[in-house]
Amino acid sequence: STTRHYHFDIRYENVTRLCHTKSIVTVNGRFPGPRIVAREGDRLIIKVVNHVQNNISIHWHGIRQLQSGWADGPAYITQCPIQTGQSYVYNYTIIGQRGTLFYHAHISWLRSTLYGSLIILPKKNVQYPFEKPHKEVPIIFGEWFNGDPEAIIAQALQTGGGPNVSDAYTINGLPGPLYNCSAKDTFKLKVKPGKTYLLRLINAALNDELFFSIANHTLTVVEADAIYVKPFITNTILIAPGQTTNVLLKTKPHYPNATFLMLARPYATGQGTFDNTTVAGIIEYEIPFHNHNSAFSRKLPIFKPTLPQLNDTSFATNFSNKLHSLANAQFPANVPQKVDKHFFFTVNLGTNPCQNNQTCQGPTNATMFAASVNNVSFIMPTTALLQTHFFGQNNGVYTTDFPSSPLNPFNYTGTPPNNTLVGNGTKVVVIPFNTSVELVLQDTSILGVESHPLHLHGFNFFVVGQGFGNFDSNKDPQKFNLVDPVERNTIGVPSGGWVAIRFLADNPGVWFMHCHLEVHTSWGLKMAWIVLDGKLPNQKVLPPPADLPMC
Ligand code: C2O
Repeated sequence: STTRHYHFDIRYENVTRLCHTKSIVTVNGRFPGPRIVAREGDRLIIKVVNHVQNNISIHWHGIRQLQSGWADGPAYITQCPIQTGQSYVYNYTIIGQRGTLFYHAHISWLRSTLYGSLIILPKKNVQYPFEKPHKEVPIIFGEWFNGDPEAIIAQALQTGGGPNVSDAYTINGLPGPLYNCSAKDTFKLKVKPGKTYLLRLINAALNDELFFSIANHTLTVVEADAIYVKPFITNTILIAPGQTTNVLLKTKPHYPNATFLMLARPYATGQGTFDNTTVAGIIEYEIPFHNHNSAFSRKLPIFKPTLPQLNDTSFATNFSNKLHSLANAQFPANVPQKVDKHFFFTVNLGTNPCQNNQTCQGPTNATMFAASVNNVSFIMPTTALLQTHFFGQNNGVYTTDFPSSPLNPFNYTGTPPNNTLVGNGTKVVVIPFNTSVELVLQDTSILGVESHPLHLHGFNFFVVGQGFGNFDSNKDPQKFNLVDPVERNTIGVPSGGWVAIRFLADNPGVWFMHCHLEVHTSWGLKMAWIVLDGKLPNQKVLPPPADLPMC
């Protein structure tokens, strides 16, 4: 294994899309940010220097950070932000992971422009458990706002309403030809006939789950969230913010005399305010060498894929049901078979009364948006939880009374639910090292029109069950898949339904869990787990690096 050094200068860069030029926060002036490529077992040392006015932190989304929680990155959870003029070195080893992940800013809405791919190749001389691709291509979905995303969320939090939606989706930073003033900003994938391409799909969009399809080509899904899955063929992928999916694209055996579009647009289950535009990219077959003359300079027909309906929940359900771990000798699925601790969390978004006339985060009255987990809308502390925990200095920075079940039993069929009342606080769950956790996440769907892509830092988890309506604690667990459930780091809690996950808390530290729809995080749909130290030296949080930023 190798140590790989990167230098990230966080600086402004003028970028023009849709004929709007603005100054955005970037890594090294690049949008999207530079690609990081490493191998399983490598150490990454990434020096981040902040040259902008905003506070910055960077999260390596999906990296387990075993004993390196100080490098995880969520601001005020594992570190104080890197202030203007300061720097911080993220230093971690990639242990037992290979696949497609990404990095993004993890403070306010800065990840709208600061993100990039993080690709982990298998160890030297280790093959993929699928056909060796001719080429590998990262495809990162994002969102472009003509306005300043920081101003957009600030204003929304002040007025209590929903923020302006994005003006375009992007593929590798480019909105593509279906938007006004954008044809020249189109992602083009040049391919050769008769080859296999590994597309590394990453949804770095702020707020929208996306369908993705390529005209006249099928895709073979081979990996989700940097874990191999049992391969299956599909025309369309569904990918939520925070998720990554690897697919194999087999090109036509012969030069097809046509151009093919790839399209992505949102999946949403109801009427709401969201950006329902479509980003397009182009698959361009390279003109074969012996035929590089006039015959092919004519305009080729362009084929478009047909995407599922905006609200095609049955597609979404079928798609997620197709995802299974390989669960073989080389890549076993270590699903916790026994559970030490059961948790039941409601995830809720609504215009909710605060309990006891408390002042809620963001919302101050019943007409403002609030989002919560078990009726708690999380308040970001002003100092980092990991520091507070490690040094044992908790003078009211956080409380350990995060409820293990909601305020009142949740029931879709009940009378107007008072179980959507919102309180707030910086409440965490504390669990001993190596606790085997089962967590059922129940969407309350009072206002939401989307699945909530819940992301857990520091762990992968197994998705042992999911369904619609109320979770039934007697019947549903009998149907759990404890053999080959998909293992991942971000899972959509279906709108109007529930999902059950299991993980072994073998990573001591403080770990954020939140909805990866950024606006829901802003409204409080987030919480944190503290996993206590174990007895052995390799089961403890190590001391922080000397350059850890202070608040
Ligand atoms: Cu990709 Cu806490 O985030």
